[in-house]
Amino acid sequence: MIDLLKSLFQKKVEAKSKIPFSTDDLAGPILANRKSLQLIDNWIDEEAFAHSYFKYGVPDFLKPLINKPIDNSPTYTDLMTFIAKKYFEQINYLEIGVSVGKNFFQLLHALNKAELTAFDIEEINPVLSRKLTAGPRTRWDTPADSIKKNQSSFSTYTFGEKKVNYLSADVWDTYSWSKLEGSKFNLVFSDALHTPEAILFEFEMLVKYRLLDEKFVIVWDDLVGKMRNSFFKIIRKYNEVYSIKDIYLLEVNGWVGQHEGTHSVGIISNFAF
Ligand SMILES: C[S@@+](CC[C@H](N)C(=O)[O-])C[C@H]1O[C@@H](n2cnc3c(N)ncnc32)[C@H](O)[C@@H]1O
Repeated sequence: MIDLLKSLFQKKVEAKSKIPFSTDDLAGPILANRKSLQLIDNWIDEEAFAHSYFKYGVPDFLKPLINKPIDNSPTYTDLMTFIAKKYFEQINYLEIGVSVGKNFFQLLHALNKAELTAFDIEEINPVLSRKLTAGPRTRWDTPADSIKKNQSSFSTYTFGEKKVNYLSADVWDTYSWSKLEGSKFNLVFSDALHTPEAILFEFEMLVKYRLLDEKFVIVWDDLVGKMRNSFFKIIRKYNEVYSIKDIYLLEVNGWVGQHEGTHSVGIISNFAF
């Protein structure tokens, strides 16, 4: 009954379900991203997997698919590449849940003026770090109640002119989020813990540490079931503060392309596409 009353009083959030970009728009990003993928034969580092907490979020049924070439149907990576290039002069990208780095690596290649930050409970995948030049790293103790049992760390790298950061920490650890304070991200991809509570918590952290730039886009992967409620809750709660202009909830291919079903992806922006 309370739920029914709540839903009657909550303003309905309208999300568009059609990809707002044309085939021509996406042709360049698709070409560039498929080329970048060809640079890596094998995303899996067995030793890193053996020491991982979540097998880098690669379930056993996806492991044989992760290295397969993908076709030219758009993926969430292609959408983000297009958005980044079309609407921003300079990108400050944050990916929460970066796994082996497949999406991250494509954006790293495709975006020209960019700084990119990865956040994951795992250590950086050696397949990714081998492509980067390592800089300074800081470490601190992970909270005792975390699944993560080793120290958390913030590692800096460069990739040509681009700055790359890797935050190895638990998204539930508020202190680790404070390590990002001072950054203003304009493109955020939330793809770590797929629970309704976790995506609400992440958003609270973005707000608490003022991590969003004046103009921004946020993308969530796998918005299924109750995760959608959190997506709509975030929009209702922050609509006024952030003047959210565009809201999408659409079906698009993910990191293994046509080798699995489409992903339900949510996108919000505080400017119109
Ligand atoms: C689905 S994968 C990310 C895929 C990646 N974004 C891509 O498109 O290439 C999810 C990742 O979230 C990470 N993750 C899960 N729980 C986490 C937590 N509590 N804190 C930080 N990262 C977490 C996993 O380690 C995994 O690497």
